[in-house]
Amino acid sequence: MWDYSDKVKDYFFNPKNAGALVEANAVGEVGAISCGDALKLMLKVDPETEVIQDARFQTFGCGSAIASSSALTDMIIGKTLQEAITITNQDIADFLGGLPPEKMHCSVMGYEALQAAIANFRGEEWHDDHEEGALVCKCFGVDEGMIERAVRMNKLTTIEQITDYTKAGGGCLTCFDKLEEVLAKVNAELVAEGILAAHEAYSLGAADAAEIKAKAKAKKDAEREAAPPTSPLAPASPLPPPSAGMTNLKKMRLIEEAIEELRPYLKKDGGDCELIDVDGNNVMVSLTGACTGCQMASVTVSGIQERLIAKLGVPVRVVPVKSHVH
Ligand code: FES
Repeated sequence: MWDYSDKVKDYFFNPKNAGALVEANAVGEVGAISCGDALKLMLKVDPETEVIQDARFQTFGCGSAIASSSALTDMIIGKTLQEAITITNQDIADFLGGLPPEKMHCSVMGYEALQAAIANFRGEEWHDDHEEGALVCKCFGVDEGMIERAVRMNKLTTIEQITDYTKAGGGCLTCFDKLEEVLAKVNAELVAEGILAAHEAYSLGAADAAEIKAKAKAKKDAEREAAPPTSPLAPASPLPPPSAGMTNLKKMRLIEEAIEELRPYLKKDGGDCELIDVDGNNVMVSLTGACTGCQMASVTVSGIQERLIAKLGVPVRVVPVKSHVH
């Protein structure tokens, strides 16, 4: 399992500033639920002084996404936009006492949401990874601009690091050649600018796609075997084996089972959760009772999602919907 710092755990289990901010006058949205991660950052900015008076977030992602988003809000409240705009993804990770390399993309998402929110306040347009340059990684919808930016800002020198920071290359890896090309190009630029030592720079052909895939698979298998339930909503029960390749009926039953197991935990806090529909990997749920409009609803959704992924052994996305679609 990931090695999280105490601060990451604290921000995940006790996130601050979660939920909607009705007085927001700057909003940044990045990622997409269809990509597995999405973050909406809302700021209340004093128009005179440009001081960020309040900040809230809603995210659909893993525990690190919640921790990174929550930490970011704490980092920026009280700062001017001019100060906040200089915060990098590395600053967010450092604030949290570090993030596992595989989770660095969560800090990148925070950085991008902040840039988008500031651009929104200034009436400018933030070009996210879906709008800028040619699409490089189709599995995760990551384009050249985002990869170049991540390599440059974080001085990345390997394909695996690109995957950790952007998710690109974390699936079929048919984007390998293009990732190599971008990495070698930006590294050469950094060497020319005196930012990177020549011997650290990536050169074409240095990595092997098959080897990277085999390593990633071995790592995932090991994690799956070792992984305990990590969600605060997860009851302590042994995990079943990964269920890739299961029939839809079996998947549906497991999802129903997992939600039934979680309901007592939600009910304890006066809330409830109802399974509405399953469409491919999207699991539509309706949060009811105290969960409705609850400041922690996005965290609850993430907790349910983590529990389902652990139970099914395959990635699924929990999408909150209103129950009248039933
Ligand atoms: S296209 Fe990049 S991992 Fe599949």
